Amino acid sequence: MNNHPIGIFDSGVGGTSIWKEINALLPNEGTIYLADSKNAPYGAKSKEEIVQLSIRNTELLLDKGCKIVVVACNTATTNAIDYLRKNYNIPFIGIEPAIKPAALQSQSKTVGVLATKGTLSSSLFHSTSENHANGIKIIEQVGTGLVPLIESGNVNSSKTKALLATYIEPMLSAGIDYLVLGCTHYPYLIPVLEDLLPKHVKIIDSGEAVARQTMAVLVKNDLLTNSNEKGKHKFFTNTDVGILESFIKNNSSSINTVYQDF
Ligand code: DGL
Repeated sequence: MNNHPIGIFDSGVGGTSIWKEINALLPNEGTIYLADSKNAPYGAKSKEEIVQLSIRNTELLLDKGCKIVVVACNTATTNAIDYLRKNYNIPFIGIEPAIKPAALQSQSKTVGVLATKGTLSSSLFHSTSENHANGIKIIEQVGTGLVPLIESGNVNSSKTKALLATYIEPMLSAGIDYLVLGCTHYPYLIPVLEDLLPKHVKIIDSGEAVARQTMAVLVKNDLLTNSNEKGKHKFFTNTDVGILESFIKNNSSSINTVYQDF
């Protein structure tokens, strides 16, 4: 199994932000990435729908021979990873908003979390935020409309900037000094956010932590590749190949192929 690929899925292109971290840490691992853009945004769907889509994505990745699955989507992790872990006999790595490091470092004891409705309403998010937010005020904000803008390639548009400004404003009024990005699409908004946020507000996401956890799980299960060559990467989307390609184009050092198929 060691030289089988790592499977990664998201509701669309956002999980490529996680794929980049995994590829940087584990360059010899091959990967298969599923962008379920046709069904984005997951964040507005019911838990049952998110579980069904996560099952379908997992089965597709298993059919393609993946040795482990990274759920590169906060919404799918917080709603479906318990089900996946109970029902499939492979390791799953998930992603959740990085409340813990933000809460530990916040001086103003006020932290903002920008995430989807599906993530913020999940019981996993609630228990994590209760566990780590002792004495910390958490300002939650649903990022309605941001995922469709990113999925259509409008990362830097004036519409995106205006929408983000309305989401950030109540957090700034509440005195946040950390902004947690609780959706894997949102790291692509960091340049716009940096223009909008005062210098003392730090942005934090979970991408690097997920890559480290992926490595730890591979080591623990004796599943690290023994190849000395750079991994091969296959990307699958059920909508526009060009959009997905535009999110991975800077990683030309690795061998990438994008298919429109599933
Ligand atoms: N990228 C996903 C996340 O991390 C899902 C966004 C969506 O489809 O609503 O939550």
